[in-house]
This record gives sequence, structure tokens and C-alpha cells, in this order.
Amino acid sequence: MALTVPVITIDGPAASGKGTIAERVARELGFHYLDSGALYRLTAVAALRAKADFNDPAALEAVALGLAPEFRDSRVWLAGEDVSAAIRTEEAGVAASRVAAVPGVRKALFDLQRNAARAPGLVADGRDMGTVVFPEAPLKVFMTASAAVRAERRALQLEARGEKADREALRRDLEERDRRDRERATAPLVAAADARELDTSEMPIDEVVKKVLEWWRLAS
Ligand code: CDP
Repeated sequence: MALTVPVITIDGPAASGKGTIAERVARELGFHYLDSGALYRLTAVAALRAKADFNDPAALEAVALGLAPEFRDSRVWLAGEDVSAAIRTEEAGVAASRVAAVPGVRKALFDLQRNAARAPGLVADGRDMGTVVFPEAPLKVFMTASAAVRAERRALQLEARGEKADREALRRDLEERDRRDRERATAPLVAAADARELDTSEMPIDEVVKKVLEWWRLAS
């Protein structure tokens, strides 16, 4: 599968800052941005709404196949309901990591993700962007940060939205998700062999964006 447009992949564990960096890099380059995690979060929320059995892979696959999100006015809607806030809760993140372990769900979402590679280019963030969805990408970044830093970043995000954040509980949830994402048989969370790894624990956002853009200049 040859790529017809340039793609940068940014993978890594939960709350490592991938989304913020991917969006900023996309803006700098005038590229499109794919938040692949949002598709797993949407599948999870749709499955919860449909009261699907989370232990039944076929039921979860059916939800993913029937997924018809509408993106309007920077918000996302499912069956007429604005679920923009619902998909961003930690509960939805944990549920997303459960549906994401189902091979049929990943297969159902594959084409949606590949189709996001449009001119002039794409920055895609997730867990398997560099290993499975865009293995031919010329620049792959694997972004990490310590569990404490990641829990703090997620807490600040929640607090910025006016929500309360329990840092200890967040850290437990993130670590549970990471474990499930790393240990699953299909498309586990792992750096691609040719990915550039970046520990952002001590790095401010601007510096990370600069680093990725520098790598891009060298790769493109
Ligand atoms: O933003 P955060 O890092 O907390 O999570 P996310 O990127 O929105 O992803 C939520 C969950 O979806 C992850 O824990 C993964 O289980 C799953 N996911 C995946 O399996 N593959 C992707 N490409 C993206 C997300």
C-alpha cells in the first residue's frame, strides 16, 4: 500500500501529549490531523449507549461497523446526540481500550483511518499508526512520559474543562489502559522498529513541536 501523501505518525501511551503535539504539528505544516483514539472512544460510547455486551466481540464489531459519527462545528454527534464531552471522560477512555482489543473493531475502523491521508498531508496520532495503519510513513514518532507526568497532564486537561480530577485514580486508570493496550494480541502499543522515541516528561510543548518539525525536515 503506497502512500500518495506525506504522513507523520505519533504513537504512545495514554495522555503522553500526542494529541496536543499532533494538532500543533499539523497546523504548522498545513496538514490534516487524525485523532484515531476518538474513533475508539466513539465506538465505546456508542456501545455503552446501545447497552452492547462488552464481552461479546461480535456485538462490539457490529457497533464499529455501524458507526456514523457526524463532525460539525468542532463537535461530534452520534445519532443526533452531541457526544463531544462524553467521549473525553476517563470512563470512555477505559471503555475504548476494551473495544480496541477486539480485532473486528480494529478492522472496521481501518479504512476510515487510511482515508484520512489526503493532500497536502496528514499527522495521525494513536497507538498503532506507525506499526499497522501507516507503516510506510516517512516519519514515525513514539512519544512517552512518566506515569506521574501523564496523570498530571490529564488532570490539568479535566480541570480546564471545569471537572474535578483525582490524580491517584487517574494514574491507576492510565496504567490499566496502557497495560491492556500493550498486552493485546492485535496491534499492541509498541514503537515501530524505525520510530524515533521521545520522552517528553521534562519537555515543554513548544520544544516537542520543534523537535518533531526538525525530524520532519530531515525525513521529507
Ligand atoms: O488521549 P489518550 O491517550 O488518553 O487516549 P486516546 O488516544 O483517545 O485512545 C483511547 C484508547 O483507544 C486507547 O487507550 C487505546 O486502547 C485505543 N486506541 C487504539 O487502540 N488505537 C489507536 N490508534 C488509538 C487509540
